[in-house]
Formats: sequence, C-alpha cells, structure tokens
Amino acid sequence: MTQFALRSVLSRALACVNMLELRETALAILANRDVQSKVEQLARLFDKYHQQEIHLDISKEYSADQLSLPGRPQNPELVPPLQVPKRKMDTIEGRASLLHSLAHIEFNAMNLALDALWRFPNMPAQYYEDWLRVAKEEAYHFNLVNQHMQSYGFSYGDFPAHNSLWEMVERTTDSVIARMALVPRTMEARGLDAVPSIRDRFKQIKDIKAVEILEIILHDEIGHVLIGNRWFNFLCVKENLSPISAYRDLARRYRAPTLRGPFNLEARQQAGFTQEELQLLGAVHEPQLIA
Ligand SMILES: [Fe+2]
Ligand SMILES: [Fe+2]
Repeated sequence: MTQFALRSVLSRALACVNMLELRETALAILANRDVQSKVEQLARLFDKYHQQEIHLDISKEYSADQLSLPGRPQNPELVPPLQVPKRKMDTIEGRASLLHSLAHIEFNAMNLALDALWRFPNMPAQYYEDWLRVAKEEAYHFNLVNQHMQSYGFSYGDFPAHNSLWEMVERTTDSVIARMALVPRTMEARGLDAVPSIRDRFKQIKDIKAVEILEIILHDEIGHVLIGNRWFNFLCVKENLSPISAYRDLARRYRAPTLRGPFNLEARQQAGFTQEELQLLGAVHEPQLIA
C-alpha cells in the first residue's frame, strides 16, 4: 500500500464511510505513526465493525511492502533490553519509568493485535473478531497507563524502551501457528507471570491507581492468552499436530526466549493451558519446553 493509499484508507476510516474492510483498515491503523489517533481509530474500528458498518473479507491478501510497520512515533528511542534504565520505586522518575515500560508493552500489544488481524488470511471470522477485541483492549490499557504516567509528569516517549515483543512479531510473519504459539502464548503469557509482582511494587508505595490499572490488565491479559491458546490449538487440530511437540518445535525454530519462572500457574490455567502443559512448566527447568 502506498502512502497515498494509506492516507486514503485512513481518511475513509475517519469519515466512517460504509463498507470499509476490517483487515485492510487494521493495516492502515497499524501503519499510523501518531499514537493518540491510532488509539482513537482503533476504538472506532471496533464500534463500526460491531455496528456492521465495516465488513470482513477473510480471504483477501494484503501487502505491507510500502509501509514501515508498526507506525510509531520518533520517541521512545529503542534500545537493547539491558540498556533500559533500572526502575527504582523510591523516586517519581523511577515509578514513571516503570509505567513507561508498561505503556510501551501496551503500545506494541496494540500493534501486534492489529498485525494478527490483517496479516493472516483464511482463518475463521471469529479469529479476526477475537483479535479486534484484543486490539481494542490493548488501546484501553495503553490509555490507562499513559494517563497515569502523565499524572507523574511524564509522557510516552520520555524514556528509552526495548522492542522484544515486536521482534517476536517480526520473526513470525510467515506463519500464523508460529505467531499464535510464540506471541500470545509465550510473550503475553510472560506478562501473566510478571504483572502480580509489578502490582505489588505499586501496592508497597500505596499507588492505588496503578494497582487498579494492573488488576484490569491482568484480568484482560488472561483473555488474550486464552485467545492465543484457542487459535494455536485450532491450528494444531487442523494440521494434526500435538500441541506440546508443535510448541517445542516452533520455539526452537523461531528462537523463542527462554522461559523462566516463577510462573503464574493459576492465571495460566485460566488462560487455557492444559494440566499437562502446566505440569511441564512447573516441573521442568529445561528452557523452551513449554509456554
Ligand atoms: Fe495489554
Ligand atoms: Fe494483551
């Protein structure tokens, strides 16, 4: 899609013209570099689709050859994970920096949901509706975290950030089963493990608003991982694969990060991991065995 075509799709989206296509519009929103309008367009996309003013074409193939994905603002500067400054909770800047890293994850989560929507054709309609819901919820999470960070006097872009989540999205552009295995049920599932301890750090400093936001995020993220599990298992059945060995193979082939505990087994169970998967996760320290 050329920049001209992109602008045209975006302006049609903004004008709310009938019969836009969901996946094409998701691609246009993904390419939008302006964070706030991306968030607003996404909320509108969800509403318009459910008001049947946007239709879904599951079979059309789109190309992002002319686009730089994801559309993102000039800041934050992207740096390797170890170069992201340590966040100390005893300073305002440290708390804001931790919120910033969460905002960046939510920004990329919004982008990854949009990418899952447009990139992979010929999945059931429910797949696209699931990812549309994820995208809307990620935009909501981004707004919650960003607004709270602003109450500390900082904005999205004020700190450097790392891009591990998006790198896994880029690594899995050629395979929907790899995407489902390694993005929602690996990277987002790590969020289920990490959020409770981050929430407790804010609890200790009596930042009740941050605690409330993290409770909302944890609740919704269980649903996102559940969606990842649903479509990963759907694809395993379709391709006659065992989920456990398919995951192991994909993790190796696509260089998934090593999984480290402690794991939030209760949240993972609610997110659809089977008892067998949870037992492997709990019992085995060998990396990359299971999500
Ligand atoms: Fe989120
Ligand atoms: Fe998520």
